[in-house]
Amino acid sequence: MIPDVDNDSIVYLNGKHVRLGDATISVLDRGFIFGDGIYDVVPAYNGKPFRMDGHLARLERSLAAIGIKVDFQRSDWEALVFDMLKRSGLGDCMVYLQVTRGVAKRDHAFPANAAPTIFCMVSPFTRPGAQAREQGLSAVGIPDIRWLRCEIKSVSLLGNVLAKQHAVDAGVDEVLQFRDGFLSEGSSCNIWVAKDGKLLAPPRSNLILEGIRYGFVEELASQAGIAFNARPISQQEVDAADELMLSSATKELLPITTYNGKPVGGGKPGPIYAALRAGYDKAIAAL
Ligand code: PDD
Repeated sequence: MIPDVDNDSIVYLNGKHVRLGDATISVLDRGFIFGDGIYDVVPAYNGKPFRMDGHLARLERSLAAIGIKVDFQRSDWEALVFDMLKRSGLGDCMVYLQVTRGVAKRDHAFPANAAPTIFCMVSPFTRPGAQAREQGLSAVGIPDIRWLRCEIKSVSLLGNVLAKQHAVDAGVDEVLQFRDGFLSEGSSCNIWVAKDGKLLAPPRSNLILEGIRYGFVEELASQAGIAFNARPISQQEVDAADELMLSSATKELLPITTYNGKPVGGGKPGPIYAALRAGYDKAIAAL
């Protein structure tokens, strides 16, 4: 029995459907041995995937970036997501997709003949509630100790795991990571800065995972008539921000109202957050 999960939920593993509690992989799976694999997380509302095309395009980019070839076309991924959503019977949920380089004798170099391991599970998801939306989250700044290919959604997440545990140990909700004095991202989310009525975010690069919400929030800003600029953001600019926000599939878009123990702006969610949040909720409602 795995605690805190629905052991009876059905997962997909290499073409088979099995109980989560019964699903197993080899100890020589390269995902287990080397963290040699990639993943993606597609949110669904009322059983309908949100921005699935973007998620599947990123999944394909991640696979290509680490040279894993899977005999799956885009339509196969879509069919898998829809089928797993249907089987789950869940409304608001997360579809987790993972591909590793497969099972092989332990050797760092790519194996000649390993078949990739393909895994999919669907988990229930509760949308961020009034407390998080209205009071906002707390965060602290830390150095970004991760590798230089953060644009790949790799399952090698030790840097992200340590970053999130830093937040837990510090008694805050999230961390803001800085590389060479410039903002990169949160432990598993993108970060947004508002200053003088304008929205800023670190540029798309190898130093961040470009969230599917990155492009979405950009669209929401444009619809709301908010100027957006993607450029390097210094630690000092974050300290002086009017508003801070984070975005991810699981956190949607949330304000950060306490940073390094101090209130951000007025210590309350600001007007740019409110405008973007309204657009976000409208898009979900229209699904
Ligand atoms: N994480 N940056 C990192 C490092 C992430 O892990 C994530 C998402 C994001 C935001 O991406 P998106 O908007 O596509 O969710 C940015 C997922 C939710 C996870 O690891 O569970």
